[in-house]
Amino acid sequence: MAHSTVAAAGLALHGGTPVSSAPVPFMSLALTEADIQAANAVLRSGILRQGARCAELERRWSELTNARHTLTCANGTCALQLAYEPLFAPGDEVLVPAWSYIATVSMVVARGGQPVFCDALPDTFQFDVADAERRITPRTRAIACTHLYGMPVDIDAVDKLARKHNLKVIYDAAQAHLATYKGKGLGAYGDAVTYSLYATKNLATGEGGLISTNDDALARQLALLRSHGETDKYLHAQVGYNYRLNDIAAAIGCSRLDRLPAQTAQRQQNADRYDAIVTAIDGITPPARTPGAQGVWHLYTVQIDPAAFTCTRDEFCKALMAEGVPTATHYPRSLTRQPAFAQFVSAAAKAHGEAYAHPPVAEALASRVFCLPMHHDLTDEHFRIVAEALHKVAEAYRA
Ligand SMILES: Cc1ncc(COP(=O)(O)O)c(C=O)c1O
Repeated sequence: MAHSTVAAAGLALHGGTPVSSAPVPFMSLALTEADIQAANAVLRSGILRQGARCAELERRWSELTNARHTLTCANGTCALQLAYEPLFAPGDEVLVPAWSYIATVSMVVARGGQPVFCDALPDTFQFDVADAERRITPRTRAIACTHLYGMPVDIDAVDKLARKHNLKVIYDAAQAHLATYKGKGLGAYGDAVTYSLYATKNLATGEGGLISTNDDALARQLALLRSHGETDKYLHAQVGYNYRLNDIAAAIGCSRLDRLPAQTAQRQQNADRYDAIVTAIDGITPPARTPGAQGVWHLYTVQIDPAAFTCTRDEFCKALMAEGVPTATHYPRSLTRQPAFAQFVSAAAKAHGEAYAHPPVAEALASRVFCLPMHHDLTDEHFRIVAEALHKVAEAYRA
């Protein structure tokens, strides 16, 4: 029997003793008593609509992220939709990541834009600006890219490309609350920055979103769009939506915001610890960091070298789970493989070929990446379990 086959027999997956019988928590979402009190105060007031707590969250978010204006809104998808509407028009081509969550791109399509899928960098997993440049045409009007997993993209490179070609820039920071680039908050960069406050995000209100901008006119326009274009009571200057947040959610957001800087610092320390653990295992690579950026590690995403192991990424993760280490796959497919975008992808394939239509790094990442448990409550014991489980599974499946 080959060495790895002997080791595989010891895996918990095959009836061996697990590294830990209690799984390491994948995230830490509990509210504190202070959060509950903050929500209760709004409930007791009876004023549940967008009000003082939303205004407080907006003001504090602007201060924390170096933005002039912040608007709360119903969720991160609405935030994208609101930000896109004034910044490009139907028919415009928009450079988007092939490697992101669907909303970054689906809202481009909802606006009537033509998504042009760009590749990811193989080490940071972030938007590949050089690849984006190759895809520019006379119809390109905007760049809509994601600070994925909480790591900022190469903002200087995006900025340079945008200036050269006169493009608007919208950053999807749904996973990147309080990340910085060259010492400044993300609100300092681009035409608009959007965030999600979904239940599992670093700052979570259940459902919720934020948009920030440094452009006064754009901020006014976004406020109108958020609330039916209403300029006076029952006077609607333009068509808009009801994408407002409510004060119960905002009160929870404000309360949690008190703890977010400390929790973020903890995530950053945890990422450093993970880097050391993962680097010691042949065939698994830690996520690289964008120069000049401070990521906030919404997700800690590693990459497996398929040639190093006798199993697939999914089998590797299944074995880890059995040892007590849950993982997640963000994401199991490149956005160009989403049926929702088939018409754009097949048009690109027809014009430029399959390799162009399906950017290759994003294709490869879909079967290589997985995320380890990451949150502010990881303990020394959790790190011990993750390290031991990774070594055990890696040796069991070593090619
Ligand atoms: C990168 C990214 N963009 C957009 C969204 C959409 O945010 P929401 O779920 O709040 O609509 C999410 C989160 O789900 C996300 O991770």
